[in-house]
Amino acid sequence: MSEKAFYVSTPIYYVTAPPHIGSAYTTVAGDVLTRWHAQRGERKWYLTGTDEHGEKVMRSAQAQGMSPQEWTDKLVEESWKPAWVDVDIDYDDFIRTTEKRHTERVREFWQTLYDSGDVYKGEYEGLYCVGCEEFKLPTEIKVDEDGSKRCTIHGTELEMVSETNYFFRLSKYGDKLLELYESQPDFVAPLSARNEVIAFVKQGLQDLSITRSTFDWGIPVPWDEKHVLYVWIDALLNYVTAAGYGTDPERFEELWPADVHLVGKDILRFHAVIWPAMLMAAGVAVPKQVFAHGWLLVGGEKMSKSKLTAIAPKEITDHFGSDAFRYYFLRTIQFGSDGSFSWEHLSAVYTSELANGLGNLASRIAAMVGKYFDGVLPEPVDHGPAEQALADRLEVAARVADTAMDSLAFHDALAAINDLVGAVNGYVSEQEPWKVAKDPELKARLATILYTSAEVLRAVAVLHHPTMPKAAAKLWTLLGAEDKLGPLTDQRIQTAGTWGQLPAGAVLVKGDSLFPRLAD
Ligand code: ME8
Ligand code: MG
Repeated sequence: MSEKAFYVSTPIYYVTAPPHIGSAYTTVAGDVLTRWHAQRGERKWYLTGTDEHGEKVMRSAQAQGMSPQEWTDKLVEESWKPAWVDVDIDYDDFIRTTEKRHTERVREFWQTLYDSGDVYKGEYEGLYCVGCEEFKLPTEIKVDEDGSKRCTIHGTELEMVSETNYFFRLSKYGDKLLELYESQPDFVAPLSARNEVIAFVKQGLQDLSITRSTFDWGIPVPWDEKHVLYVWIDALLNYVTAAGYGTDPERFEELWPADVHLVGKDILRFHAVIWPAMLMAAGVAVPKQVFAHGWLLVGGEKMSKSKLTAIAPKEITDHFGSDAFRYYFLRTIQFGSDGSFSWEHLSAVYTSELANGLGNLASRIAAMVGKYFDGVLPEPVDHGPAEQALADRLEVAARVADTAMDSLAFHDALAAINDLVGAVNGYVSEQEPWKVAKDPELKARLATILYTSAEVLRAVAVLHHPTMPKAAAKLWTLLGAEDKLGPLTDQRIQTAGTWGQLPAGAVLVKGDSLFPRLAD
């Protein structure tokens, strides 16, 4: 058996429309996180996919005059998978809930819980939001002046559903869940999310209606085929069905439990309450962590597929490139908090930190090594206090970034790397190599300045590789590092901060710029 893989998942998204930058935000975060672990030398497994059953998807298909299967087939192939290419996602598996490998296992799972007595038949009446695919509690309902009852998230009118359903004995698991949050304090993160979940469970849990009978776009209930399984209790199981649960014990052992389920705060309770309770009922280990991030807001509102404000990732990547997309959202929004998107802010960060910051630094260093040393990196003969200060700074930045990634503090990790780039820019401005170059007596000094700058860039390429794979690869080529140190993929985060790895003699090449200047 191989080592346990670092397993990260995204939510599986509803296929009602093409993805927008909100869906891409979560998917990019998971991609950066898993690539970071791979850069540490760990095995990674990154899962994403699509949630294709339920009323919401069914209605969006009807609106297109298509069957749900035709509609989801089309959107997945023409919109979702291409969008993940646009933002450079390296997933290991893409699961669709309409696949047999999923539906069959879901039926077996619920049959087992039915047989063991955790599922029973009853009557249900409640107000349902199709946008959330959820029955609403009294506190989650907004009553308008005209008496109409609306969803506090979607603003749409709730629908009264009254039918015979099957129920999952969720109420039975309240105490066990509270024990889980105590014994595994990182199970729900960040802290604000954890507190919210604990308070919710402490109020007492109600049993959960897990079947519907008024429409048929779902997985048939195995013991009563007039009903379909509620979309959420089908969807959550993707995290285990994709990992070999019930079919491939060896694979399941290598992957499960998941290390992190990344979710937006809108779907925290499903993941932190219902999901672990389902697993407990089936005697399966719970995941290590559910991390709830905040919302991307546009004009103060949550970006969503149902609103006209939805921005496709491609609108951004066509203009700024996939690396800038990946960098911008993780660098500027504290992971766990909401963040506002604006084109102006994106342009400003791109220009200051990427084009003028890192990109310009790299091309200046390559140009000077080209001009003064025929492109061959010289020996640093008089490494002094200014150089040592940078070497120390690099060591600290690499450590800070690595530690930040353990708590999914992408913003802190990227700030540390960006500050390091700023420090090299400051060093170059102070040392003025273009002036030093005028005095032939100072050739050793010039060599040291250029060597020192290039050596920090060597580490920056490694540290930025998970976030900006394309720019980091260009930087690696620019530094002539591949010939001397091997592929960028083989460099390790843990040793990135160790000084003096790029050997003199490396041949620097000034290729195309890392981050082209923006046209107006
Ligand atoms: O909830 N800001 O699917 P969904 C940040 N199918 N993240 C956002 C966002 C925004 N404005 N909008 C969406 C579902 N997201 C279910 C999940 S999982 C077993 C089933 C991201 O298409 C964020 O991750 O509504 C959010 O939780 C998710 O997309 C919701 O996607
Ligand atoms: Mg949603």
